[in-house]
Amino acid sequence: MKYSLDFSDTAIFIMGGSSGINLGIAEAFAAHGANVAIASRSQDKVDAAVKILSAHGAKAIGFSADVRDVEAVKATLENAQKQFGTIDVLVSGAAGNFPASALDMSPNAFKSVVDIDLLGTFHVLQSAYPYLTKPGASLINISAPQALVPMELQIHVCAAKAGVDMITRGLAMEWGAAGIRVNSVVPGPIQGTEGMKRMAPTAELQEVVTNSLPLGRLGSPQDIANAVMFLASPLANFVTGAVIPVDGGFSLGGASVAGAAITHQFKQLKR
Ligand code: NAP
Ligand code: COA
Repeated sequence: MKYSLDFSDTAIFIMGGSSGINLGIAEAFAAHGANVAIASRSQDKVDAAVKILSAHGAKAIGFSADVRDVEAVKATLENAQKQFGTIDVLVSGAAGNFPASALDMSPNAFKSVVDIDLLGTFHVLQSAYPYLTKPGASLINISAPQALVPMELQIHVCAAKAGVDMITRGLAMEWGAAGIRVNSVVPGPIQGTEGMKRMAPTAELQEVVTNSLPLGRLGSPQDIANAVMFLASPLANFVTGAVIPVDGGFSLGGASVAGAAITHQFKQLKR
């Protein structure tokens, strides 16, 4: 089957777009003609990502900002709007993760993940509101299987990402009247990413994770970008408040199997 997507004259802003899955999303939009703005903490990572995006022929800009700093987030979105006009597509994907049991986690460790993933998502979406195309903007939060499936060593991420999905649902209700759609994409384990390196650092664990997926393979950033492009396109004009797993079936049960193996291996390493 053939399909074509054209995001020319579309401005997309991706918070956390300087690496991994989010950079993959940025590249996909750049390759389909969009003007792409990204932001993350490290100016070096942002500069390197902007180079990659420009190589697709896109107009690409980048900013350094920490999602925990609401004033920095506001200034960044205002600057993006000044350069690109109103924002048609907004992706909120900045996140932090490390495996740690509740007893090995300081309150600040728990708080740092909640501040980045959950409070950060609130900062990004609320700060973006004045600059969104109304009607018509599509907002996509990048969630995680931990929002749907409880996992040991992950209570900080489980709590934060479940909260992100409830922000998705609540804002879909509050902002629907303004013609703004809000959805979550829940990636499964994605090959070659920082998230996978942290959760499955050994070849053995990567194999367990891969085998736990009904589709029998890890995902790619392009798999996630495809879902985000669908949500950003007119094909999804009646889709809002949806939390969509794009995970090869991981959240159907494999996540529990893989989670148990990950816990086992980290406990062995700790001994
Ligand atoms: P990654 O490469 O580490 O991407 C995280 C991005 O967020 C980077 O651009 C990082 O850049 C930025 N970031 C981190 N903390 C930030 C902060 N405080 N303020 C602003 N930006 C910040 O990780 P990834 O594995 O691709 O994950 C991307 C997203 O997918 C995350 O939302 C994650 O929860 C989700 N996810 C990943 C997987 C997976 O298999 N990898 C599975 C499910 C869900 P700086 O370091 O420059 O700030
Ligand atoms: N186990 C237990 N606690 C940990 C930890 C670990 N593996 N790693 C960090 N922490 C704790 C720190 O000790 C600190 O707590 P403390 O002040 O009580 O000592 C707290 O978490 C914050 O750590 P810090 O390094 O100061 O935070 P930061 O703001 O510089 O970084 C993180 C945030 C910790 C989330 C960092 O891992 C990060 O920047 N991650 C982004 C990339 C990423 O995680 N990508 C994958 C996305 S799925």
